[in-house]
Amino acid sequence: MSSAAWVQRLSNDDCSSYLRQAIGEGLFERHDWILIHDLNLMEAKYAALDAAFASESLHAVAVKANPVVGVLRRLVARGAGLECASMEEVEIAARAGCPPDQIVFDSPAKTRRDLAQALDRGVVLNADNFDELARIAALLEGEDRGALKAHVGLRINPMVGEGAIAATSVGGRVSKFGVPLEEAQAEILAAFERWTWLTGVHVHVGSQGCTVAQLVAAAKRIEALLVTIEERRPGQIVDVDIGGGLPVSYDTATVAPCVTTYADELRRACPTLMSGRYRIITEFGRAIHANCGVAASRVEYVKTYGGSAMAVVHFGADFLMRPVYNPDDWSHEFVALDPDGRVKTWPAQPYAMAGPLCFGGDFVGREVMLPALTPGDFVCARDVGAYTLSMWSRHCSRAQPLVVGATADGPLEPLRAAETPRGVALDWEQPREGSS
Ligand SMILES: Cc1ncc(COP(=O)(O)O)c(C=O)c1O
Repeated sequence: MSSAAWVQRLSNDDCSSYLRQAIGEGLFERHDWILIHDLNLMEAKYAALDAAFASESLHAVAVKANPVVGVLRRLVARGAGLECASMEEVEIAARAGCPPDQIVFDSPAKTRRDLAQALDRGVVLNADNFDELARIAALLEGEDRGALKAHVGLRINPMVGEGAIAATSVGGRVSKFGVPLEEAQAEILAAFERWTWLTGVHVHVGSQGCTVAQLVAAAKRIEALLVTIEERRPGQIVDVDIGGGLPVSYDTATVAPCVTTYADELRRACPTLMSGRYRIITEFGRAIHANCGVAASRVEYVKTYGGSAMAVVHFGADFLMRPVYNPDDWSHEFVALDPDGRVKTWPAQPYAMAGPLCFGGDFVGREVMLPALTPGDFVCARDVGAYTLSMWSRHCSRAQPLVVGATADGPLEPLRAAETPRGVALDWEQPREGSS
């Protein structure tokens, strides 16, 4: 059951049943579009992840994929940690109730102030480079090492090559992140010899467009490094953070790899790394959230110009930034539903799905085959639970939507209120720091 949940996407019928519930609860009397996150499915995906790895592992779900605190609280209640890429995300993680020792802080731009706070809080802190390690060393100068609560690791670029999507691949020969393994092996070993508080290694190569073989190859290179460090500093390495990274399916034709396959492959290829001697940390984001989210919008207008039909909906590049600006790499499937929330049936015709923003390229999909649409119908975008709201763009100052959580029974749970025009205006007006 857990493996099936890992690859499960919300179906057209799921979209319909959640939409009908939302209509029944009167949400579309106040909102033009809403986001629905299936909390049960998300928890089932988390359970599959938890079951695939040894029980002492720490699964720090990436906040950048979905920072809605009500969503994160559900994961933390299940024992999840949270991976944070900024101090803002560390704050979000704390608000979600995540214990500091289950917060993993990664960022390539940590300031001395960020590092001091992270050490004080006692989080798992992954340094991106040697200069950052030197800053940490300076902060620890004269401190009682025995009292150090934080775990400190070093991010390694395993240099296993890029995946199919360049912008989200970070394991190529040159990467923005981490210390390149082949180029800097001697310095890496010297850092572990010099700083006994350096007790972790961290790797992340990307997710969408990456293969399981690539992720396993990265872990294998880290394992070889571990063995070498172990020879020189036996017992120093405590944490092995293998990052996030499994791709998900965004369309009916693609089957996503399962986390149990990944964990089995890791155990086969990296027996030392997975021996139980180290705490394995994971940082999945997309694979936990993407397939759990649906955006439901009323169709505001349908226009036909030059023989091509265009449906205007309420989410655009503000919400689906990657599909609009980089449609070759990112796309979503859409479902057409009638004003009562029932799935509309064929025959289909091509629609351009126009967003609400004031620029000509704001199309969340082109040539989308859908049954005939009329104003007042609904369109749902599937698989929008990750890297959508978290990448919100303020273009045209449109308000962010209501986010609700769906569970098997009971009403939709409000997780995050919609912004209001007044709220957005006030946000642009705040003249002083700390006034918002
Ligand atoms: C360091 C790090 N960890 C984890 C993640 C989450 O990865 P994904 O959502 O692709 O699983 C990312 C994504 O950017 C990342 O940069």
